[in-house]
Amino acid sequence: MKVVRTKNELRALLEPLRAGRVGLVPTMGAFHEGHLALLRAARRECSTVVCSLFVNPAQFGQGEDLERYPRNDAHDRELARAEGVDFLFAPSSEEMYPPGFETWVEPKRLALELEGVIRPTHFRGVATICLKLFNIVRPNAAYFGAKDAQQLAVIERLLRDLDLELEIRAIETVRDEDGLALSSRNAYLSPSERRVALALPKALVLGAKAARDGGDPVVVARAALDEELGLKTQYVAARDYGEPRLLAAVKVGQIRLIDNVPLKGGAG
Ligand code: PAJ
Repeated sequence: MKVVRTKNELRALLEPLRAGRVGLVPTMGAFHEGHLALLRAARRECSTVVCSLFVNPAQFGQGEDLERYPRNDAHDRELARAEGVDFLFAPSSEEMYPPGFETWVEPKRLALELEGVIRPTHFRGVATICLKLFNIVRPNAAYFGAKDAQQLAVIERLLRDLDLELEIRAIETVRDEDGLALSSRNAYLSPSERRVALALPKALVLGAKAARDGGDPVVVARAALDEELGLKTQYVAARDYGEPRLLAAVKVGQIRLIDNVPLKGGAG
């Protein structure tokens, strides 16, 4: 595995490899099993795997956790190497946003609700950095987690609206044994906050079950979250992003957590 810091070097390294299938896994590092599941899928399906590791300042709002975002570069390097990543692209902020940078991708309707209400400039930062990464790497496929279902929908919309040719591969959410979706931000939770946070996946599972029984998943999940006094519910919503899903965001202390589950008809 080679660690690459500049766009030009990465482009030059990829040039002779374009006859094969190039896969890109965009990340902000602090790897957990969710990231590793994306890397494994890319490794299975592609001859060349590029993993980008860039804590993208543009997708953090003022007062958010950019400064505190967990960083673990040396450990990430080892994990990426062990998963068979060919190129770990870890550029500086100046490399991605040189002085004078002023062109943004502005996703609209899909990006302005749910996460977008609470984080109004978030998806503009995500869409812009992803388009830049797609242009630098020119992958045949890019791998994203269903954990961030709205992000995935925004990226799929970006592909259609701006005529990008790559394939998006969605990987289902990896969870801890207790059901909590893995997230780099889980590291911030104290043991008691972590117990409270479990109400989030539990409520989503209850909501999905209610939907299968003909009930309203949003009402049921919200009621379950309301019973947990240690958290604040920010939204609960059902959306069809190609497949219906039940989504929610909560705050446990200072920590925001998001999660979602598929809403399937029938038993399962
Ligand atoms: P990050 O939060 O590092 O996540 C990188 C990828 O891992 C995303 O596609 C995310 O959905 C996926 N992921 C996170 N937790 C997961 C889990 N428990 N199971 C499966 N996949 C999981 O999302 C971002 O970074 C950034 O917004 C990025 C797309 C890199 C743009 O900066």
